[in-house]
Amino acid sequence: MKRVLLIVSGGIAAYKALELVRLLRRDGVAVSTVLTEGGAQFVTPLSLQALTEEKVYSSLWSLTDESEMGHIQLSRAADLVVVVPASANMLAKMAAGLADDLASTVLLATDKPVLVAPAMNVRMWTHPATRAAMATLRARGVHVVGPEEGAMACNEYGFGRLAEPTAILAAIQALLQPSHPLAGRHALVTSGPTHEPIDPVRYLANRSSGRQGHSIAAALAQLGARVTLVSGPVGIADPPGVTVHRIETAEQMLAACTAALPADVAVCAAAVADWRVTAPASAKIKKAPGAAPPALALVPNPDILATLSATGSMRPQLVVGFAAETEDMLEHAQAKRTRKGCDWIVANDVRPETGIMGGELNEVHLVTAAGIEAWPRMPKSDVAGRLAQRIAEALDIAEALDIAEALA
Ligand code: CTP
Repeated sequence: MKRVLLIVSGGIAAYKALELVRLLRRDGVAVSTVLTEGGAQFVTPLSLQALTEEKVYSSLWSLTDESEMGHIQLSRAADLVVVVPASANMLAKMAAGLADDLASTVLLATDKPVLVAPAMNVRMWTHPATRAAMATLRARGVHVVGPEEGAMACNEYGFGRLAEPTAILAAIQALLQPSHPLAGRHALVTSGPTHEPIDPVRYLANRSSGRQGHSIAAALAQLGARVTLVSGPVGIADPPGVTVHRIETAEQMLAACTAALPADVAVCAAAVADWRVTAPASAKIKKAPGAAPPALALVPNPDILATLSATGSMRPQLVVGFAAETEDMLEHAQAKRTRKGCDWIVANDVRPETGIMGGELNEVHLVTAAGIEAWPRMPKSDVAGRLAQRIAEALDIAEALDIAEALA
């Protein structure tokens, strides 16, 4: 059974949350409720409790509430968090990341999708502060339904009226349905570093953690793709629902990638070592007393991204590479896209002051033939989700164009 965590904040429209609960329950959706102090001025905990048939939560500090179900557990148990009505104050708090009551704390702590249904006076809705808060929330991936235009309780007319409960229900249903736009597609993803042997115990490597590549594989699988992940040695878990081929060297990575073809899309997120030792020693290189350190002769590794991008019948329809740059990021990324023959480059600025390398957030630019898109700073898992969504859209468009061409 799907479960919605409904947050009812203050506003005359709060009474419509009761109708929404009735519609959700009729559809077999379980509803837990958090009622803010403002919300409780308009609807009573008793009405919500009667309709949800569950305890209504309101206080962050209530020991019984926390022992029964803490704010983390409330969000963990839900598939979706919905704020109805979302007051101007609640939206501003969400945008600022404030956590001064149970509702705002849940909203800051949740990793579930969030849907807000704003409702307020038209001048509050059009105020630059609310505009800025909404822009921030939308950029973070918060879903929004309404508000609608119409007559308001304050005898004014304009945008700010809460969306109808049936419209909110439709938005909730769309978010609860897992969507599989990549069903039937095969995605190939490279991730992690490669290890290039010097001798049986030593190797050349780099600091790649594999986090971004693994989360892209997970996001593509979530959208229904069959995913083959070719990963260098990493210390993180395999993404769920993904076939993982573990390799060590660049040459093994290339062999595993070509063996996995055909694929509809290839995403090369691995930090492949640019060179390997020409002739790794078959036995451990010993230190002879007084002898000079060994000189390592290196040869270039194959470029997996460029090889997959090379035109031919096996070329994936869409090939995506990464570029980590510390200067002239966009020029380098554009040049890399042309040089390697891939379709898109995801570029990021990895200068230490950006805090991106090793950090939780990423700020990328998507470089395509059509131009450059700057994406806002967001968690790396959100970058993966958004990229997977874009890949799904691009493959759909390509398919539609193919069909149109075949029919022409
Ligand atoms: N790549 C690859 N095989 C290689 C080297 C790189 O598939 N042998 C891919 C990476 O997975 C990534 C992109 O190419 O998608 C990065 O290109 P690269 O030339 O390695 O550039 P950077 O490491 O970003 O930087 P530089 O240009 O300084 O080498």
